[in-house]
Amino acid sequence: MVNYFDLTKTLKPQVCMTESFFSFSHSHVSSYQLLSARSKLYPLGIQGKRVLDLGCGSGRDCYIAAALVGTSGQVTGIDMTDDQLKVACENLPVYAQAIGYTPNVRFVTGYIEALAAAGIEKNSIDICISNCVINLSPDKKMVLEGVYEALVAGGELHFADVYASARLPESVRTHQVLFGECIGGALSTEDFLNITKRIGFTLPLKLQSSAVDINDPELLSLVGQTTFQSITYRLFKLPSITKSPINDRQRTATYNGGIVGCESDYTLDQVGKRLVFHVKGYLLESIRLLML
Ligand SMILES: C[S@@+](CC[C@H](N)C(=O)[O-])C[C@H]1O[C@@H](n2cnc3c(N)ncnc32)[C@H](O)[C@@H]1O
Repeated sequence: MVNYFDLTKTLKPQVCMTESFFSFSHSHVSSYQLLSARSKLYPLGIQGKRVLDLGCGSGRDCYIAAALVGTSGQVTGIDMTDDQLKVACENLPVYAQAIGYTPNVRFVTGYIEALAAAGIEKNSIDICISNCVINLSPDKKMVLEGVYEALVAGGELHFADVYASARLPESVRTHQVLFGECIGGALSTEDFLNITKRIGFTLPLKLQSSAVDINDPELLSLVGQTTFQSITYRLFKLPSITKSPINDRQRTATYNGGIVGCESDYTLDQVGKRLVFHVKGYLLESIRLLML
């Protein structure tokens, strides 16, 4: 397994980070920042849910999630780097003070390719989140299969990562700086869509997308015409739907208005076609669900 933190010593900052990522450190946390800066990247209405953060690093997203799931929910952060998890654990009091109660968070050492070995049981997670980690995995298919197994039916993978416009050649994939920049390990969007479809996820909905610029001329010459994007996707585990012979474009869905703050309608994605589910009064309106 590659040691990410050895590679980061050569990083040219900001190449893989986007505006959607945290711009503040643990020491600047306040409850306002906690809830506002990040919550748009989470599904709404996740109180009481069980969240898993893949490659949680020093735990910031876990604490945000913990604030959103509340005392009845639970958040697990998994990471292979003990030094990161040590920082995560040490910050518990800071977040407890910011949130106003001790967040229900646990951190486990492990590989995201081996969730079961790390104690993450099958069908035990409602929402899996991750920020800029899966591109670092040498076996992304194994990661995504493990996530599918860990999710309950109806659960979702809701994560940000870097994608390439085309499959990357060996010379880019094995380039240490590009790998450390979260670029060398990027899947092409096409490969990502194919892998997740084969596993059984629903078609990914795009929540957010922004260009990842490479400013270093030397690195730019290595990647050639290939462009990179940081994308936040949400994918659902809905076996009863994905195993059915009905075409995605022919599906209808009904939203029952149960998410707090979204009683009248709920927007599933925010990029491209808007999938808005409406509720009229107490009467439910079914609309055609046009998957991208
Ligand atoms: C770019 S950092 C992102 C950390 C965190 N998600 C964030 O947004 O701040 C990548 C993290 O993924 C972890 N990581 C990379 N590959 C991993 C793997 N195969 N299994 C578990 N953790 C991994 C690293 O230890 C590191 O903490």
